[in-house]
Amino acid sequence: MRVDILTIFPGLFQGFLSESLVRIAQEKGLLEVHLHDFREFAKGPRRSVDDKPFGGGPGMVLKPEPVFLCLEALLAGFQTRPRFILPAPVGRRFDQALARELSRESHLLLLCGRYEGYDERIVDAWHFEEISIGDYVLTGGEVPAMVVVDSIARLLPGVLGHDLSAADDSFEQPLLDHPHYTRPATFRDLPVPEVLLSGDHARVATWRREQRRLRTAARRPDLLSEKPTRSADSPETPTTEA
Ligand SMILES: C[S@@+](CC[C@H](N)C(=O)[O-])C[C@H]1O[C@@H](n2cnc3c(N)ncnc32)[C@H](O)[C@@H]1O
Repeated sequence: MRVDILTIFPGLFQGFLSESLVRIAQEKGLLEVHLHDFREFAKGPRRSVDDKPFGGGPGMVLKPEPVFLCLEALLAGFQTRPRFILPAPVGRRFDQALARELSRESHLLLLCGRYEGYDERIVDAWHFEEISIGDYVLTGGEVPAMVVVDSIARLLPGVLGHDLSAADDSFEQPLLDHPHYTRPATFRDLPVPEVLLSGDHARVATWRREQRRLRTAARRPDLLSEKPTRSADSPETPTTEA
């Protein structure tokens, strides 16, 4: 998958792109991320990318011209049109289903907004899909762009150690994930649940299903009324997963 990110703060992505699974995905040739500083397309001595809002009011607005020029230059080099994504609080809610959907695309383009907002003609002319990562307001679209890339990267086949290890995650099936434990079996007088030491895979699977149900009912009852994408009773993936 190729991802092009338009931002006036490309430096924010340095650590994100050079560590952990996102780095591994790139090293394996499964993910290619290209950063484009659209300030380079801004005119005038100050290369300003923002201006005052028509109609008055506080804050500044991202101007259309630098974004249009950057997009025109980029698209001239592409064979096909990528899927255009614009992170924004006013957008469709970003969730695991959308992450899965985007992970099947071969090419995404993300525009990172800043200021009080962006000139709406950017959205209209380029048919950007606006997506919100949550009901709160951040200073810019860079962190949301990282959220999108991170959530997609781990879904690309071959990125996770075990291809099935994302399948039992919260939101991948109707319920939240169950609790996890690792060695030692007792840590500072805190034992792990006995069933996990039993070696009885059927009992472990039943316990995990029950924990998923209890947690979801207590923490996210809204999920129980959502249409399931996979049966709550479908078998667990192998316990040896990464
Ligand atoms: C300060 S915010 C602008 C908020 C805007 N005035 C509003 O109330 O919807 C600046 C930029 O950060 C990004 N952003 C902020 N919060 C976001 C969120 N929850 N999801 C996705 N993008 C967000 C968007 O690109 C937005 O244009």
